[in-house]
Amino acid sequence: MVITRVLIAIAMEAESAPFVAHLGLQPDPSFFPPQTPFNAFRGKHNSCELTVVTNGKCSVHEVDNVGTVPAALATFLALQKLNSTSEDADLLINAGTCGGFKRKGAEIGDVFLTTAVANHDRRIQIPGFVEYGIGKISSTSVENLANHIDAKLGVCTTSNSLDFHEVDSHHMLENDASVKDMEAAAIAWSAEMFGTPHFGVKVVTDIVDGDKPTQEEFLENLGSAAKSLQEALPKVIEFVCDKKHDEL
Ligand code: ADE
Repeated sequence: MVITRVLIAIAMEAESAPFVAHLGLQPDPSFFPPQTPFNAFRGKHNSCELTVVTNGKCSVHEVDNVGTVPAALATFLALQKLNSTSEDADLLINAGTCGGFKRKGAEIGDVFLTTAVANHDRRIQIPGFVEYGIGKISSTSVENLANHIDAKLGVCTTSNSLDFHEVDSHHMLENDASVKDMEAAAIAWSAEMFGTPHFGVKVVTDIVDGDKPTQEEFLENLGSAAKSLQEALPKVIEFVCDKKHDEL
């Protein structure tokens, strides 16, 4: 079976807007239940049907709904909606920004494709729950795609914080993380419920094991990272569309 329907989950508007505009995708206000803040943009690109979903703004604080809760819910609802109209996604791509580990060769602006995702802030020291908390999930294999777009490959580790504490450092190392974000593990968890193959495309805005304060570096590089995502994503879409999963 070749890939013709692709769902792309992006948390922040600044990350999604250039890509949505570039492909001329149109808002679909009836896609999500009206109670949710989520947004959907849909359209065709070559022979592929694309749906981009974003997490919308928090109605109280008027900032993007980042983090695992909105990410898992928006992804689940999007996959359920596509399933209910017999338009099941063949592939789910989680696109966004991330922190990169220089010890794993990450540099600002690099594009990483995920090999697996895991959590670094779910510490539950009860037998069986330890591994559940880490929740490592393999991404679909995309080595040919990585070669084609000259992207790096690695594990993405997720938590609900932009910064990290000493204990997180230990778990990020244990997870063998190349990059760190706030959504990937939650999105993969929802995708697994539908049996939808998934992987992440992550652009590095800041160096986690560097000297600069994360928030400064992140804000400094968010615009250029969104541009780099806008350049990388169409290449990703063009590569995956009409291919079989084992060709990725
Ligand atoms: N997104 C971009 N940079 C990040 C970081 N350092 N941690 C989590 N999410 C990020």
